Amino acid sequence: MQIGVPREIKPQEGRVSLLPPQVGELVSLGHTVLVEKNAGALAEAAADHYAAAGAELIDDAAALFDRAELIVKVKEILPPEYAFLRAHHILFTNIHAAANRQQLDRLLQARLIAIAAEETHELGSPNSVLAGEIGALEGVRLVLAPHGGSGRHFMRHFEAMPARALVLGLGGVGRGALRTLLGLGLSVVGLDTNAAARREATLVWYKSDFSADHIHALPRYLGHVDLVLNCVLWDKGRNDHLISRAMLKDMKRGAVIVDIACDPHGAIETSRPTTWEDPVYSVDGVRHFCVDNIPGAAPVTASAGYAVAILPFIKLIAEHGALEACRRNRWLARGLTCAGGVLTLAEAARVQDRPYTPAEQFLASV
Ligand SMILES: NC(=O)c1ccc[n+]([C@@H]2O[C@H](COP(=O)([O-])OP(=O)(O)OC[C@H]3O[C@@H](n4cnc5c(N)ncnc54)[C@H](O)[C@@H]3O)[C@@H](O)[C@H]2O)c1
Repeated sequence: MQIGVPREIKPQEGRVSLLPPQVGELVSLGHTVLVEKNAGALAEAAADHYAAAGAELIDDAAALFDRAELIVKVKEILPPEYAFLRAHHILFTNIHAAANRQQLDRLLQARLIAIAAEETHELGSPNSVLAGEIGALEGVRLVLAPHGGSGRHFMRHFEAMPARALVLGLGGVGRGALRTLLGLGLSVVGLDTNAAARREATLVWYKSDFSADHIHALPRYLGHVDLVLNCVLWDKGRNDHLISRAMLKDMKRGAVIVDIACDPHGAIETSRPTTWEDPVYSVDGVRHFCVDNIPGAAPVTASAGYAVAILPFIKLIAEHGALEACRRNRWLARGLTCAGGVLTLAEAARVQDRPYTPAEQFLASV
C-alpha cells in the first residue's frame, strides 16, 4: 500500500505520525512510504533519516495526498488540507469528530474512510500522560506572581504552605498531572467519579500531600486552590458544566484553570481552545490555559510514543485494507468514523444530531 506521512500544519505542532524506525518496518513489509519533506524536522527525524529507512520524500502536501492511499497524521484535518481529500483515501489521525462539525462535513463529503486514532488506544492515549505533565508545568508557572498568579511557591518553604491544586479526572492526563504536581511538592486534591481511579491514585501517592474525593465535592475545594486542572473525559452530549461561569467568582484571587480536556461547552463553561502562540486568556479575573495540542510542545518524545502505539494498526490496514482491518481488530473498529459518506461514530451522531450506522452494522453490510 502507498502510505503517506504529511507534515502537520497546526501552529506550533511539531509531532510527526511515523518516525524512521516505523517507516523502515513498513518498507520491509513491501509498502511504499511517502514522507513530506520536513515532516519530522521538529521531532529529530531529518529527511535523510527517512530516506535511509526507505521512505520516498515528497516536496509538498498536495503531491503526497495525491499519491498516497493511507494518510497517517497526528492532528485533525485543517481547512487548508480539505481540498486534498479523495474518496480512495483511508485517513488515520486524531479526528475528534464530535467537536468539529465542519471537518466531519468534509470527511463525509469526500466519502473517504476515516479512523479516529484517539478511539483506538486500548491502553490509553500514549500522549495523554505527557499532556498532563506539560499542562501541570504550565499551570505551576502561571501560579507565580509575575504571571498573575497567587504567588505561592510550588513546594513548602519556611512556614508557607505550597501551592494547592485541584485535579479533575484521574485518568491518563490526570495521572500525568499528578506526577508533575506532586513531584514538585504541591498539595493536591484529585476528584473523579470513578472509585477505582481515586483508589489507584491514592495508593500510588500515599507518601505525598494528596487526597482524592468524588467530583460532587468540587464546590468544597474550588475556593481554596491556586490551580485547577481539568483532565475529565467529558461526555460531549452533556449540556451542564463542572465549573460554570458563575462559579469563577468563588475562586481565589490569581487562580488559574488549566483545561487540558478543553471541550468547548464542556466541563468548564468558559473554556475555548487556545494555541501555544496565544495560550492564556482571562474570564472574570480567572486565567484559562486551554491549548488543545499540548504534547505538540514535546514533539520528539510525543512522536515516539504515538508512532509506536499506532504502528500495529497501520500494518493491519496496509495489509488488509481499512474495513477488513476493522473487522479483525475491535479497537480499530472503535475509531471508524465514516466510510463512503456514512457516519459510523455514535458520539458525533448524537452531539451533531446526524443520522448514523453503528460501525459493527456497517462493517457487516459491506
Ligand atoms: N489538550 C491536549 O493536548 C490533550 C492531550 C491529550 C488528551 N486530551 C484530552 O484530555 C481528556 C482526558 O483524556 P484521558 O486520556 O486522561 O482520558 P481517560 O479516559 O484516561 O480519563 C478520564 C477520566 O475522567 C473521569 N471522568 C469522566 N467523567 C467525569 C466527571 N463527570 N467528573 C469527574 N471525572 C470524570 C474518568 O473516570 C476518567 O478517570 C480527553 O478529553 C482528551 O481528549 C487533551
